[in-house]
Amino acid sequence: MTAPATTLRAQVFALLRYTDPSPAGRRWRMIHLSVLAIGLLAVILLSMDTFALGHREILRVVIWLVTFFFLIEYLVRLWVAPEAPHYAEMTAASARLHWAVSAPGLIGLLAITPAVMLTGGYAITGADTASVFCILWILKLGLHAPAFGTLARVVSNERAPIASVLIVFAILLMMAATAAHMLERERQPEAFGSLPGAMWWAVVTLTTTGYGDVVPLTTGGRMIGSLLMVSGIIVLALMTGVLATGFSQEERRREYLRVWEQVARVPIFASLGVVTLSEIVGKLRTRYYPSRVTVLRRGDPGDSMFFISSGEVDVRLPTGGSVRLGDGAFFGEMALLNRQPRTASVATTRPTTLLVLYASDFYEIAAHIPALAEAVENEAQRRREENIDRQTNKSGQ
Ligand code: CMP
Repeated sequence: MTAPATTLRAQVFALLRYTDPSPAGRRWRMIHLSVLAIGLLAVILLSMDTFALGHREILRVVIWLVTFFFLIEYLVRLWVAPEAPHYAEMTAASARLHWAVSAPGLIGLLAITPAVMLTGGYAITGADTASVFCILWILKLGLHAPAFGTLARVVSNERAPIASVLIVFAILLMMAATAAHMLERERQPEAFGSLPGAMWWAVVTLTTTGYGDVVPLTTGGRMIGSLLMVSGIIVLALMTGVLATGFSQEERRREYLRVWEQVARVPIFASLGVVTLSEIVGKLRTRYYPSRVTVLRRGDPGDSMFFISSGEVDVRLPTGGSVRLGDGAFFGEMALLNRQPRTASVATTRPTTLLVLYASDFYEIAAHIPALAEAVENEAQRRREENIDRQTNKSGQ
């Protein structure tokens, strides 16, 4: 958890973080992405000769405005750099220098360098050719993708299986290229006369791309080609499997940490020991809901229950009234306990973080931890009685 931002610089830093979950943070990211998209579109359109002179002038102005926007952003990020927790030990100047040479800093710098080229470009290459360098802006998109960090960790975690698959790829490639070179070189000396030539064919075939620019003509060459195509599919499937498993494991680990942070805020879990808690944490998932979103609808089948980590929901009762549930409360348990459709609709009243527990996991946990099941059952019973009372009062009126 980060401490609440106090100074203006700390507030701006918090807002500019790519992972800031606040509505203002999301709004800033939307604006940033929109400016990026407009800038890239302008660069792409300017590269087409079909536009009239007036239109080209407008596109140039747009590119200038986008560059100016990125320049301001770069300066602001440089200003707030000392707020980053990992630069906390450094002086402000040293923190800024470290940020400037970090990946986000260099990408920010690359995004404003086209301005320099645009200015100088009039004399050297012509402004429109220089504007093509603005395509470097696309690198900024990478900063919006938190999965980049995950990708790096997955590659690092799975480096042994990835290396094995690459080695199999290299062995198949070299063996097939050598065999094809021996079998085909007489009939097709230009394509298969050298090992590099044969390797080009082997890479195109092994990756199942198959341009068809070079094809084996002898029976032996075709047999090697067929084997290579089948091997290619197997190697790609292996690589896909390794990366997909690595991604899902990494995501599980991250989700575990996220849930662990949230679970402390739910009183019903507070009395549980660490071992029991870790069992539950492994089964919970975090879900973020904006304000005024329906989480569940009355009459729908119940496949999960929810714990409110932070935020608030409005339970719209069938009797017409409504009940507000806040931090630490839970809902959606009645459908699981009674194995019946949802008894009420529930919607968020403000941005809310929920922990979801799916039915199958709920039944498993209820069997393991009777105290927890009992607490949920008691609350469900109280709610049922409350609803019946409300119903009776309503019909009595
Ligand atoms: P479920 O029936 O699965 O879906 C709607 C949920 O609303 C229900 O479970 C309860 O968790 C919740 N709910 C129903 N009645 C009340 C109540 N009187 N007070 C608080 N929550 C309720």
